[in-house]
Amino acid sequence: PEAITVQELANRMAARGGEVVKALFRMGVMATLTQSIDADTAELVVQEFGHRVKRVSESDVEIGLEGAEDTDTDLAARPPVVTIMGHVDHGKTSLLDALRKTDVVAHEAGGITQHIGAYQITVPDGSKVTFIDTPGHEAFTAMRARGAGVTDMVVLVVAADDGVMPQTVEAIRHAKAAGVPLIVAVNKIDKPGVKPERVKQELLQHEIVVESLGGDTQEIEVSATQRINLDKLLEAISLQAEVLDLKANPNRAAEGTVIESKLDRGRGPVATVLVQKGTLKQGDIVVAGAEWGRVRAMLDDKGRQLKDAPPSLPVEILGLSGVPSAGDNFIAVENEARAREVSEFRQRRARDKAAAAAGAGRGNLTDMLA
Ligand code: GTP
Ligand code: MG
Repeated sequence: PEAITVQELANRMAARGGEVVKALFRMGVMATLTQSIDADTAELVVQEFGHRVKRVSESDVEIGLEGAEDTDTDLAARPPVVTIMGHVDHGKTSLLDALRKTDVVAHEAGGITQHIGAYQITVPDGSKVTFIDTPGHEAFTAMRARGAGVTDMVVLVVAADDGVMPQTVEAIRHAKAAGVPLIVAVNKIDKPGVKPERVKQELLQHEIVVESLGGDTQEIEVSATQRINLDKLLEAISLQAEVLDLKANPNRAAEGTVIESKLDRGRGPVATVLVQKGTLKQGDIVVAGAEWGRVRAMLDDKGRQLKDAPPSLPVEILGLSGVPSAGDNFIAVENEARAREVSEFRQRRARDKAAAAAGAGRGNLTDMLA
C-alpha cells in the first residue's frame, strides 16, 4: 500500500527532503523524493526524526506536532567532532595520544583510561573537542554512505618526511565528498632535514591550498612525539568549529551513530556510540542497528560511569542484545515494544536487501549463461 511520497513526508515533518532520503537509506530503503513509501516505513522515519506518530488509517500516517523539528530556541552549541585521517604511519595514533594528554580534566577523573575509538577532551579555555580515531577508510566510507555524518571536520595528518601518499589523497577525497572542512597537520617536523614546504606544494596538486599559499585551508606544523604546536592545532580546530556554528538539541530522545562495537567476555555486547542529537540517559531503551536493549551502564573514555550523555559525547553503552556494526544508527525509543518493532523492521530490511542482492547475482549468472 502506497501511503505517502518522500517529499510529502518531509513536508509534514518540516524536514529537508534530502534528510528523509538519507534516513531511508540508513534503513536500507532506496527512494527518491517523488517515490511513495508504505505507511510502516513512513512511521519508522517519523520516529527516527523524533516525532510522534498517529495512524489515521491503516495506510496513512499523521505526524504529531509535539517533539517536532528542533527550532532555533531548542538548539544549543555542541563540541566539534573531529576525525583524524592520513596515510599509514604518518602519526595519527601518536597525534591522538598527544592531544589526549592536553586534556585539562583528564587528571581529575581518576578513572582507568581505556582505549576506545573516540574520546573527548577539555581544552584550557574550557571548551570541548571530540576526536575519533581514524576508523579506517572503509569504515569512514561506510558511515558516509549511510549518511551518518558523524564528523564535523577532518584533521589530515601528513608526515613531513614522507609527504602526500596514496591514503592521504584518499582522505582528501573522502573529506571533499562528505563536504567537511579539512585542517592539515604536517607531522614529524622534529625530524632533521624535513621540508614541510614540500608537503604544501604536493597538496596543491590535490586542490588543497593552505593559508600560507593564499588558500583557505588551515595548516599547522606539528610533532606528535615532541608535542610541538599541539596548542596551535587545537586553536585551528576551535576556529573552524566557530565558523561551523555547531548546534544540537540536547532536550530530546537521543540519536546518534555506532563508532565501534565488540563482544566483551565479561560485559557482553559493548558499543561505543556518538550521541549526535538529544541526551542519552542511563536506563534508556535504545535500538542500535538491528539490536536493542536498555542502557544498563554508560561509560566515558575515562571509564567514568555517566547518567547522561549530551550531544557530541562518545560513550560506551552496555545492555544491548547483540553487537551492532560501526556506522549503524542508534535511537532511544519510548518503550520495549517500540524497540522490538524497530529492531524487527531493520532485521527484515537487512534480510530483504540480502535476498535482493542474491537475486541480482542469480540474474547476472542467468544472463551470462543465456
Ligand atoms: P597506522 O595506524 O599504522 O596507520 O599509523 P599511524 O598513522 O597511527 O602512525 P603512528 O602514530 O603509529 O606513528 C608511526 C610512527 O611514527 C611511530 O613509530 C611513531 O613513533 C612515529 N611518529 C609519530 N609522530 C611522530 C613525530 O611527530 N615525530 C617523529 N620523529 N616520529 C613520529
Ligand atoms: Mg594508528
